[in-house]
Amino acid sequence: MKMRLSSSLALLCTALAAAPLLQAAEDGMEAAGRQLFSHHCTACHSLDTSENAFGPSLFGVVGRPAASVPRFAYSKAMQASGITWSEDNLRKWISDNEALVPGTRMRHVAITDPAEQDYLISFLGSLK
Ligand code: HEC
Repeated sequence: MKMRLSSSLALLCTALAAAPLLQAAEDGMEAAGRQLFSHHCTACHSLDTSENAFGPSLFGVVGRPAASVPRFAYSKAMQASGITWSEDNLRKWISDNEALVPGTRMRHVAITDPAEQDYLISFLGSLK
């Protein structure tokens, strides 16, 4: 009994020690994503909460229906796409946006490295 208690205590301690590590890993992903975003996206997408630039604001984009930002002139293609910005669709979008929505006004982007996609999506998820 004593053995079992101490081993579950050890497990608990490991779990508690891992939690901040996981948080740090998540923060690291977000930071890497922020850097990628500033290289590839800020030319057209403002990070200022609700402001539209050449592209629509991406504040709260994860889970949002496409073409739903007020006062932004989306392409017909985007308006007709009927997609929702799930993580999966965002992954497809940043790896080849013209394949996902043919006729989109957004210039072609091709971020095909899965790790970079993870970082960017993690960062986009923090914009809320
Ligand atoms: C050259 C300018 C430009 C660059 C660079 C750019 N975008 Fe865009 N983005 C646009 C435009 C314009 C639209 C609207 C497209 C349309 O209506 O067809 C758009 C639309 C989007 C949408 C859909 C938003 C919505 O409200 O439906 C997402 C998501 C997006 N961009 C993400 C990104 C990400 C992430 C990057 C960087 C990897 C990026 N964009 C780089 C101009 C750009």
